Amino acid sequence: MTDREIVNLFEQNHPSSLEQMQALGLNPVYIAHGGNRQVYRLGQSLVVKIGREYEGKYLQTVNEIRAIQKIHQSPRLEKYHKHVLPLFYGNAETGIIVTKYYPGEVKASDEGKFQNLMDSLQSIGVQDLFYANFRQDADGTLVAIDLGFYTDEEEL
Ligand SMILES: Nc1ncnc2c1ncn2[C@@H]1O[C@H](COP(=O)(O)OP(=O)(O)OP(=O)(O)O)[C@@H](O)[C@H]1O
Ligand SMILES: [Mg+2]
Repeated sequence: MTDREIVNLFEQNHPSSLEQMQALGLNPVYIAHGGNRQVYRLGQSLVVKIGREYEGKYLQTVNEIRAIQKIHQSPRLEKYHKHVLPLFYGNAETGIIVTKYYPGEVKASDEGKFQNLMDSLQSIGVQDLFYANFRQDADGTLVAIDLGFYTDEEEL
């Protein structure tokens, strides 16, 4: 299955759990988790983030979908586009996000390297950007991969 076919499966079936993804013939492989999401690798270069429900809502997923859409749709924020995860599929109702897999880890000792990006993203409303919420693309580009703490008080 190609990555495009995998995304199509999400768009057509809206699976909301690991079991439902497996029933569609997908094989998500666990990579990591944070306080709010479990993250699995899928296909060639995808990850699926499965949100944790709290009081009937998937707050971090909802925030993240909104943040990604706002940033990627804004020409004014173009300089951030390559530094913010893409949204291949996002569902606020089921708490599922499909995005790109980033191979490179960022370590606490690399903090100096991304301090500017962190400060700059903070100024547009993205909070909680410590090193575990960044990864590196194959070419070394730093990418914020967790926009779960986003407040859009500011007009982007
Ligand atoms: N696109 C990705 N590519 C590779 N690894 C990823 C990706 N997205 C997430 N991860 C890994 O999964 C971990 C958890 O993901 P994420 O930060 O989105 O979850 P979270 O529960 O919202 O985290 P937090 O505890 O910061 O709220 C990340 O720290 C990272 O190690
Ligand atoms: Mg995180």
